[in-house]
Amino acid sequence: MSYFETSFWPRSHYQNMEKSNGNICKSICTSIVIGFFMALFVMSVWNVSFHRPGKSYVILLDSSREVVHRTSPRFLSFGLDSSLLRDMKNFPIHDERFVNLARHLSPAFVRIGGTSADCLLFNETVLGDSVARRSPVDGGDISNFTLTDTDYLSIYDFTRKAGLRMLFDLNVLIRTPDNQWHDSNARKIITFSKGQEMEIDWQLGNEPNSFNFVFGRGVPAAQLGKDYIHLRTLLNTLGYESSILVGPEANHIGDPDDKGVHYATEFLENDGQSVDFATWHQYYLNGREAKVMDFISPAVFNRLPAEINSFQRGINSSGRNVKMWLSETSSAYGGGAPELSDRYVAGFLWLDKLGYSASAGVNVVVRQSLFGGDYAMVAHDLVPNPDWWISVLFKTLVSDKVLHLESANNNGTLRFYAHCTSESSLISGVPAVTVYGVNLDVHRAQIFIQGSWMKKNAKILLYILTGDFLKSREIRLNGDVLKLKPDGSLPPFTPVIIDPTQIITLPPLSMAFIVTHGADIRACMP
Ligand SMILES: *[C@@H]1O[C@H](CO)[C@@H](O)[C@H](O)[C@H]1NC(C)=O
Ligand SMILES: *[C@@H]1O[C@H](CO)[C@@H](O)[C@H](O)[C@H]1NC(C)=O
Ligand SMILES: *[C@@H]1O[C@H](CO)[C@@H](O)[C@H](O)[C@H]1NC(C)=O
Repeated sequence: MSYFETSFWPRSHYQNMEKSNGNICKSICTSIVIGFFMALFVMSVWNVSFHRPGKSYVILLDSSREVVHRTSPRFLSFGLDSSLLRDMKNFPIHDERFVNLARHLSPAFVRIGGTSADCLLFNETVLGDSVARRSPVDGGDISNFTLTDTDYLSIYDFTRKAGLRMLFDLNVLIRTPDNQWHDSNARKIITFSKGQEMEIDWQLGNEPNSFNFVFGRGVPAAQLGKDYIHLRTLLNTLGYESSILVGPEANHIGDPDDKGVHYATEFLENDGQSVDFATWHQYYLNGREAKVMDFISPAVFNRLPAEINSFQRGINSSGRNVKMWLSETSSAYGGGAPELSDRYVAGFLWLDKLGYSASAGVNVVVRQSLFGGDYAMVAHDLVPNPDWWISVLFKTLVSDKVLHLESANNNGTLRFYAHCTSESSLISGVPAVTVYGVNLDVHRAQIFIQGSWMKKNAKILLYILTGDFLKSREIRLNGDVLKLKPDGSLPPFTPVIIDPTQIITLPPLSMAFIVTHGADIRACMP
């Protein structure tokens, strides 16, 4: 079968991969390994070795087969960084192609936020020096700027046309001399929004625990809690009582000093229960330093569970009962890693993040970003990157009902998750389960789906994703490059159909959605 055929991987990839696996195995070992594979190559048995069966993985559903979590219907959401508002000319919100790409990801929140949110003045002239100020983190512009009412309206119109819900990040750095939040500009934007009957959700500030470093001024967590109470009251007064408010947008969660978690915890102890969801920002890597191997190394993947756990401990110790959002998250910070964060290889971290987060009860994951930087799902030429396709497939095949997998090891190169299949993908309303995940191995992997829940006449529909090389801008579904139709509509996602008795084989370095139609699971009934 053609989709089992692996693409040709340059030899250098292969050697690099071997290196990363053994940290004891240094230069001597490496040369042996290189020598060994060179020999294999010369002997022309490359293909045999490459195709030898690798690990196998048995998919076992929790025998109770109950839904363990319900995510938000907008679980897979995305951001548009506030820095894009500095340069509206180059922000393609008026381009129908861009609207179309965003619409294929609906329903979703689109978060308009980021460092520049705390430099944004709505319909107000910027006072003070005109010398550009630069962020010490990534060199980005952190001077104050004006967002006009017309531009604000056009961003909102874009979100409506695309069927998205706008989540707007208000400037928390407009403050009184005694360091309380000053609401004058927020009042303007909220009143204007209400006047235009805009439906919006809100947040206040971005990465406040890093303000000292980025802006040279601080906002203590307890004070930010009070500022959020203030904003909640303001929203209620100005007609946004049913809008949600999320915070504190902390970062550096999981750092050894735990400062980010402490900040968020103290915030949650002081926000008067004003936030509906506790939010934080997650990146695995520094975009300037990240290497291709980092994108397929299980140790990097395993950072996320540890960080989610740290943040959950913070929520627990605050005594609050709120769910968390990853409200800004991508593979690498500082705009992403060039030629990595926007390529096929980024898909592994992205799909695993979606799967792990849902399994851990995270309510929403906001991908940084849809457009801009090196981590965007849509490239500057408005051609979708592989992660956009993965997101569309996720939206198509995966529902908000999360099932628990009892399969033993999800910390290595084979990592899988299970949800009920989304209703729109069911066949004649027959309950189905979507198992999805990644094979980070350089070998094929065998997947066994087992359990009495599979009906006798069940059919398995396979959607296997591969790339011709790790830095490819393209992604293949069951062997065919994914491309939009000329009218912007989605191509048919044609599965490979097999019987439950057949073995599922995943190619090296692939991703998969495996949909079992005919699942005796009440929780998955539409
Ligand atoms: C504020 O909005 C008003 C009304 O649209 C407009 O006339 C004015 O120029 C705006 N000011 C700024 C600084 O954008
Ligand atoms: C940016 O605006 C804030 C709020 O008005 C002000 O406190 C701050 O000094 C301004 N920053 C610069 C560099 O002018
Ligand atoms: C948080 O609290 C819940 C409910 O008590 C508990 O099940 C969970 O294990 C706790 N999580 C952490 C990371 O402490």
